[in-house]
Amino acid sequence: MERTASDSWFTKRMMRLTHFEKWLMDRPQRIQRAEREALALFGIINLPPQPRCLEIGCGHGIVTRLLVERFMARVMATDLDPAQLALARERLADIQENVQFRVADAREMPFDETQFDGVFSFGVLHHLPGGWRRAVAETARVLSPGGWFVFTDLVLAPGAGRVVQQLLPQLDPLEETALRACLTAHGLRLVHYEHDSGPWGAIMRWCTAVAQKV
Ligand SMILES: C[S@@+](CC[C@H](N)C(=O)[O-])C[C@H]1O[C@@H](n2cnc3c(N)ncnc32)[C@H](O)[C@@H]1O
Repeated sequence: MERTASDSWFTKRMMRLTHFEKWLMDRPQRIQRAEREALALFGIINLPPQPRCLEIGCGHGIVTRLLVERFMARVMATDLDPAQLALARERLADIQENVQFRVADAREMPFDETQFDGVFSFGVLHHLPGGWRRAVAETARVLSPGGWFVFTDLVLAPGAGRVVQQLLPQLDPLEETALRACLTAHGLRLVHYEHDSGPWGAIMRWCTAVAQKV
């Protein structure tokens, strides 16, 4: 992979979850929220029978399981962290015929073009400052025409993004306006985008979204 700002120390640090973050990911309330969000987004998309799905940053496999249960999908479950993937493999043992596991970097996916009917990313892109644009480009590349990109993420609000851009132009964190523009530039048309409006909404927002490859 060509060396870029996304190979900075900060990006590498952000991509590797701490023990505390892994503990947070595994809390029942967090899992229930992720499942609720995933199921609501699944209601928006329209997949063929036994769809070919890719999950990036699958963690321990919450969304992978839902994809199999809801769509009878054949899922390629990927994560950069082999330990997370090992945990996913263990927890998804009962549905292993439908799932393949692979260590893979979302910024450089080891898959052919137009190979998947859906790409799923839950809480992953904000871990890739300086690298999320490449993950979006890769998503567009591996999706079949009409395929779906379903994601949730923590995005910087536009005003906060402008401040960060002025102070730290190299950083390129996940920011709402840039994310929308990047999706469009790669032929991914947003059909759903919502974000919460909590007390931090002017700075950071949690978004749920669906885009379709045109
Ligand atoms: C916040 S966790 C979310 C896990 C899972 N999607 C969920 O909702 O439970 C982010 C995940 O992204 C993975 N990750 C970070 N950087 C990545 C990269 N460049 N490529 C693929 N996965 C990555 C982490 O290892 C971690 O498992």
